[in-house]
Amino acid sequence: MEDSDKCKLVKGIPFIQKIHNMEAIEKMYDDFEVRDKDVIIMAYPKSGTHWMIDIVSLIYSNGDPSWIKSVPSWKRSPWIEMKSGSEIIKSKKDPRLFTSHLPVHLFPKSYFNSKAKMIYIARNPRDVIVSFYHFIAPFALHSSWSAFENFFESFLQGNVVYGSWFDHIKGWLPMRNSEKFLFLTYEELHQDLKANVEKICGFLRKKLSEKEISSVLENASFQAMEKHRLENNEPVIHLKPIQLVLMRKGICGEWKNYFTVAQMETFNKLYQKKMEGLDQDLFPWNQC
Ligand code: A3P
Repeated sequence: MEDSDKCKLVKGIPFIQKIHNMEAIEKMYDDFEVRDKDVIIMAYPKSGTHWMIDIVSLIYSNGDPSWIKSVPSWKRSPWIEMKSGSEIIKSKKDPRLFTSHLPVHLFPKSYFNSKAKMIYIARNPRDVIVSFYHFIAPFALHSSWSAFENFFESFLQGNVVYGSWFDHIKGWLPMRNSEKFLFLTYEELHQDLKANVEKICGFLRKKLSEKEISSVLENASFQAMEKHRLENNEPVIHLKPIQLVLMRKGICGEWKNYFTVAQMETFNKLYQKKMEGLDQDLFPWNQC
């Protein structure tokens, strides 16, 4: 992707003029002050970010869904790189909850010397491609992206908004040895949401009763989240007139309905090359 009226490259990464705060992103690495009490949700786009925001919001509300029913996620946990987020974050009191999709080299350096906690959520990149393809379409960033095969090629080259999936995960993964960083996957949440909610509670040092945990699980289901989004008016207000579908299918393995055999082979080859040497047990999507 090149600079255009719709997109702009910042330090080699494409962003969308309409929604991203380019000026803030350019200075963020040096200027943004991460605080010790901050809790940050980090993910490559379409990896379950909103799911995690709702889970963490519910944990902080002891399972009470009032907050998620009345306030959209971009206000509860603003994206630091979005136009909508930069201002909201300034007025937030500790402990702040915020979100980002930024690759490690653009994220505020103050995080690395802080005690702030970060939850990283990763997803099978094959399903990320499909989800991203549908999500990005209304922005009409690239005429050729109406065809799946073209978006697939751009994704493989890292030539999409937020850059390469491989660089994102490989950039953040070394942090997983730190106790202030929790690495989770979308697939694990699907397999056992309760165990993972309990893991997140432990990480955030939040003690919830069995009843409160049950309420978190109930309110973080796909159906409940879909309903809450109608109640809290997300995302209609924030990107008018672009209508985005956040809650689309919410399943694992949908890529099998999209990839041709040739695309599957191309993807697997690249995946093996790029992910070589990493502990494959961290990535449960290799089974689905
Ligand atoms: P699909 O497009 O495959 O349906 P993000 O929040 O990072 O943009 O990720 C969006 C993806 O997470 C969408 O995937 C969406 O359906 C899925 N998702 C959101 N909430 C979910 C939930 N409670 N359970 C399962 N999947 C969920």
